[in-house]
Amino acid sequence: MPCVALTFDDGPGAHTSRLLDILADHDVKATFYTVGRQIEQRPGVIRKMAAAGHQIGNHSYDHPQLTAVSADAARRQIATTDALLRAQGVTPSTVRPPYGSYNTSVLQVLGSLGHGAVNWNVDPRDWQDKDTPTVVQRVTSAARPGAILLMHDVHSTSVDAVPQIITTLKARGYHFVTVDQITGGVAPGSAVHSGMHP
Ligand code: NI
Repeated sequence: MPCVALTFDDGPGAHTSRLLDILADHDVKATFYTVGRQIEQRPGVIRKMAAAGHQIGNHSYDHPQLTAVSADAARRQIATTDALLRAQGVTPSTVRPPYGSYNTSVLQVLGSLGHGAVNWNVDPRDWQDKDTPTVVQRVTSAARPGAILLMHDVHSTSVDAVPQIITTLKARGYHFVTVDQITGGVAPGSAVHSGMHP
């Protein structure tokens, strides 16, 4: 059965709770790369996310380019957000580095904290073109078995695109899974951009 993984970055935001309701209506599990300062604003949304069985990962504390800060600063960015998630009862799984930027030094830091990096291979640029039909068209036309789809739940136009993305891809036989499921798990200190188990 062909699989894709929906991933949502930069939240939890004002539209995330509504997105969780949409995903529940469609019985779809997704992966959320959450930002520490957003978790502080909306810890209840993290608990709702976890209770629904979604995978929750780490997208740093306040979204710097990790390749542009010191290794110590990068470590604090990730460790702080891990602690914020653990405080909500969540065991964070994998890191999405802000802007997808990593190098060997960043991977070393992630590895030392028990994390691998997860990027994507389908990017509808939903943060740039805040237009629901455009986002739907770009995601559904680019989806392939094993795809990791990048979206941003901080934009209502992106959340509005999710029902049609799900129904279109399900009609093509796709199954929606988490990043851990589509990759089979990411070894600490390594990086992936797509699923190995399409
Ligand atoms: Ni981001």
